[in-house]
Amino acid sequence: MVHVVSTVIATHGLTKKFRDHTAVDSVDLSVPQGAVYGFLGPNGSGKSTTMKMLLGLSQPTSGDIEIFGQRLTRSTRADLLPSIGSMIESPPGYGHLTGWENMLIVRDMLGLVDAQIETALATVRLSDQRDKLVRNYSLGMKQRLGIAMALARDPSLLVLDEPTNGLDPAGIEEVRDLLVDLASRGITVMVSSHLLDEIDKMASVLGILSAGKLIFQGTRTDLFAHSLPDLIVETPSIDAALRAVPYAAVTGGGIRLSGHDNEATAALVALLVDAGVQIHQVRRVQQSLEDVFMDLTGRGGLL
Ligand SMILES: Nc1ncnc2c1ncn2[C@@H]1O[C@H](COP(=O)(O)OP(=O)(O)OP(=O)(O)O)[C@@H](O)[C@H]1O
Ligand SMILES: [Mg+2]
Repeated sequence: MVHVVSTVIATHGLTKKFRDHTAVDSVDLSVPQGAVYGFLGPNGSGKSTTMKMLLGLSQPTSGDIEIFGQRLTRSTRADLLPSIGSMIESPPGYGHLTGWENMLIVRDMLGLVDAQIETALATVRLSDQRDKLVRNYSLGMKQRLGIAMALARDPSLLVLDEPTNGLDPAGIEEVRDLLVDLASRGITVMVSSHLLDEIDKMASVLGILSAGKLIFQGTRTDLFAHSLPDLIVETPSIDAALRAVPYAAVTGGGIRLSGHDNEATAALVALLVDAGVQIHQVRRVQQSLEDVFMDLTGRGGLL
């Protein structure tokens, strides 16, 4: 009987402390099989530290990690790692060797055959650049070579730390298409980024870190469901409105405010009326996903 594992990565209270600094703070990840899991967070929020723990490269201070339903420990690590391809922080590869020579090192280290490294290079569309020295590769080509190295072992899980970092929009789109394609073949892909835009279009599930805490995990739709649409107050008396609510932003024909629920809206309207502000219209507009993300990570709030 085939054992079906629907959650590929699950962590419980995963925590990493460096002296008195908590870099990863009681994180409960749940990465479903076949997902592109977008792991988002600003610089220093703990993405790389979390991914290193998932790969057994760094020991958690507390909490535990299950991969393919099996607890990751020093003794299970060797069983689990052959199924996990990874690229952490910067792309690997020796500059003084060609792409192919780098792949040969991977082949020999992992005991693979030529066909596997050839397929990996073809998947990232580097076959025709394989005899070029890696130091002459563009950043996008280096990132793709790193992904090819991670792919060569035919992993069931790919853990990629900022594979789109430093790429131009075309390069980002290429990596995005590649990862979506891999996920459609059943490979679970966990991919980190500090830029929501880079990840939003490819991720089926998002996990958002802020200062080491997982402040959101779910689909894009779930994320919007949690966000409060902005409020726009149309008024000809913008100066008076700003005197009453100096924290408002000015927008064409009125002011714009975020984070106002129904009660806060009623109080705001009363305040504006009291201040003699003429109100023509009050309406809500959906925030952009980027705004939702900035709000969340900026105020460090919990959903
Ligand atoms: N080996 C270490 N020793 C001490 N502190 C560390 C170490 N590694 C990471 N940190 C700290 O842990 C926090 C999280 O770092 P981490 O590299 O995981 O963030 P990140 O989300 O990957 O950031 P970036 O987007 O810049 O890659 C930071 O405050 C960092 O300074
Ligand atoms: Mg990092």
